[in-house]
Amino acid sequence: MIFFAAALIPQVRAEFQWFFWAMVILCGTVATGIAAFLIFCAWRFRRKDDNELPPQNAMNIPAEITWILLPLLFFFIAMFAYGTKLYFDIERPPADAEDVYVVAKQWMWKAQHIGGEREINSLHVPAGRPVRLRMISQDAIHSFFVPEFRIKQDVLPQRYTTIWFSAEHAGTYHLFCAEYCGTNHSHMTGWIYVMEPDAYQRWLQTGGAEGSLASTGEKLFHQHGCSNCHQFNGHGRAPNLIGLYGQKVQIAGGYALADEDYIRESILNPNAKIVYGFQAIMPTYQGQISEEDIIALIAYIKSLDTGAPLQLTTLAAPVIETNSAVPTKSHPAERTTR
Ligand code: CUA
Repeated sequence: MIFFAAALIPQVRAEFQWFFWAMVILCGTVATGIAAFLIFCAWRFRRKDDNELPPQNAMNIPAEITWILLPLLFFFIAMFAYGTKLYFDIERPPADAEDVYVVAKQWMWKAQHIGGEREINSLHVPAGRPVRLRMISQDAIHSFFVPEFRIKQDVLPQRYTTIWFSAEHAGTYHLFCAEYCGTNHSHMTGWIYVMEPDAYQRWLQTGGAEGSLASTGEKLFHQHGCSNCHQFNGHGRAPNLIGLYGQKVQIAGGYALADEDYIRESILNPNAKIVYGFQAIMPTYQGQISEEDIIALIAYIKSLDTGAPLQLTTLAAPVIETNSAVPTKSHPAERTTR
């Protein structure tokens, strides 16, 4: 029954669902029609007499072209084009989507909001606003599945996956893990609480968060000693991180996009991509930092985009202390003025 409760489904997903059933019906009709016609012809043109020779008809080229081209263009190519459009709608979160980070582990779902609120096996979101989930697993492969929203996305170790939804109606929706992940897989469930915007604001205020996710990240940035080398005056031994997020970074042998995965890799496996003009001196933080803390650090680095603690005039060239043979480049991160 739930599969037809379209009124509850977020809009893009509802469109997707109708399209899916339209395709099933159309393809089913065509396949049934062809099969029926085949059976009819086998009966109608059967050999009625042992000596009968069938008439040899030449192929009717215009008829052949018509019946191939018309369905191809008007049904199948049209379905493909519309399906592609829907696919991009589903894959590309709107720019104003609110980020929530999800860490999956055996056997629970942990969510971290930008404001610093944390929850386990529950996720509070506002109604009518797009929410983008950035998810990672700290052990096995899990899958974030909310049947009523028609969203299901694998949650993998070592890399972030993203899914977005915009829940239209306030209510409580079941969250499941849809990938077998060990003994208690079937207990890895939770609830999505979609709240009216004002109720959501009240929930945020009673969340008891100790500062935003970015401010937690800032504390970690100092605790782990990142700030010793990643200085904001451009004179550190490591790249200046102000404005880094979302930029193309010049690295040995090409460019890398400074997204969540890049930042995470740079923390856990710093030698994988060395920023042009810098030395491979950063130690790995593998095993010393949890996925949640990495997310807080990412939130902090993202926040350096706008809430820069220093004037942007200090974004000078990196000073290369140890190897003067390396040519100095104006700045490792290509930036655009915002
Ligand atoms: Cu997590 Cu199944």
